[in-house]
Amino acid sequence: MILITGGAGFIGGNFVHHWCERQAGAEPVVVFDKLTYAGNPHTIAPQLKSGQATLIQADIADREAVRQALAQYQPRAILHFAAESHVDRSIHGPGEFIHTNMVGTFSLLEETRAYWSAMSEADKAAFRFLHVSTDEVYGSLSDTDPAFSETTAYAPNSPYSASKAGSDHLVRAYHHTYGLPTLTTNCSNNYGPYHFPEKLIPLMILNALEGKPLPVYGDGLNIRDWLFVRDHCEAICQVLEKGRSGEVYNVGGINEIKNIDVVNTICAILDELRPRADGKPYASLITYVTDRPGHDRRYAIDPRKIQSEIGWTPAETFASGIRKTVQWFLDNTEWIDTVRSGGYRDWIAQNYGGRA
Ligand code: NAD
Ligand code: DAU
Repeated sequence: MILITGGAGFIGGNFVHHWCERQAGAEPVVVFDKLTYAGNPHTIAPQLKSGQATLIQADIADREAVRQALAQYQPRAILHFAAESHVDRSIHGPGEFIHTNMVGTFSLLEETRAYWSAMSEADKAAFRFLHVSTDEVYGSLSDTDPAFSETTAYAPNSPYSASKAGSDHLVRAYHHTYGLPTLTTNCSNNYGPYHFPEKLIPLMILNALEGKPLPVYGDGLNIRDWLFVRDHCEAICQVLEKGRSGEVYNVGGINEIKNIDVVNTICAILDELRPRADGKPYASLITYVTDRPGHDRRYAIDPRKIQSEIGWTPAETFASGIRKTVQWFLDNTEWIDTVRSGGYRDWIAQNYGGRA
């Protein structure tokens, strides 16, 4: 049994699918998720229905709920995906980010430490706490800086990345001080099925299909290093199996792309798969809007450690992954309807309403 926090979110949900397919259902999972606006049980409905996954709806900062889950399910590993994850939301309201990413991770670590301390020596040695983190903790690169490695100094620039950096430091300290067998992965931008449509790629696909403006922040030349979500999930599986306790592994696909090129690629695929009724190209909807405050210019991951030590490399190119992603959004309108609540519409008005 493994316990997955945030397993009803974008990456955690994809991980539940990936794990259950990879293990052919041999080792069930417990999903521990608060079900915030970003958590959606529909994402893992097949696994919940088949009994491969069990869902506990609770906050990672609720220590009693964490304690009960650990006592009841006795996991051999905890995979910690739960977080507030959207940079723009952290600019509008940082409080939730401190609560979940820092206080929540602290609570989870404290309860994990108590649970782990009571194990037999053999079980203690085999146990793993795998913390899923982000490349954003390393800050922003210029066009000529080398990519982020595991030894790059932390320099977070947004409330989101600062709260993730804080959680990374706590995980590091629990290994160093208490000997808790931790693993940390710092990954670049993910994309793929079940991506919540507040993030660049799903937002652009859905706005385009509705004939709405495609809001590109600033000059559109910011660079992200895109990785198909299933490649990230497989990296996590392999780090769990083969990673050395206490180590950090950067995960990325060497796929640096400017935002405007990402948006143009999506438009071109939609022109082919779902041409507009008026015959115009989707790219005519592109609208440059006021930049994100403190917008990091470039992220890039140096994946040499995970490639050489673990043997992981991504299976998808951006060309193959983005085509699958666009097709998935065209084919899964029911899932899209489940996430675009009134709260989602309020967020869109809050984030985009005030931008020139
Ligand atoms: P997401 O926002 O889609 O999902 C987060 C999940 O966590 C949701 O299911 C939500 O309900 C749950 N959650 C939030 N607060 C919680 C709490 N207090 N207690 C329990 N559950 C809670 O996020 P994501 O994009 O899937 O990211 C997952 C993890 O991966 C995060 O830690 C994020 O920092 C990291 N990460 C994301 C990316 C990316 O591109 N999306 C890249 C690298 C790392
Ligand atoms: O690098 C990993 C990080 O990637 C994760 O840790 C975060 O959880 C995840 O949200 C993502 O952060 P970004 O800020 O890079 O992703 P987002 O999709 O919000 O934005 C990607 C780029 O697109 C960024 O440069 C901002 C820009 N953008 C975004 C939105 C939502 C736009 O130009 N317009 C938009 O409407």
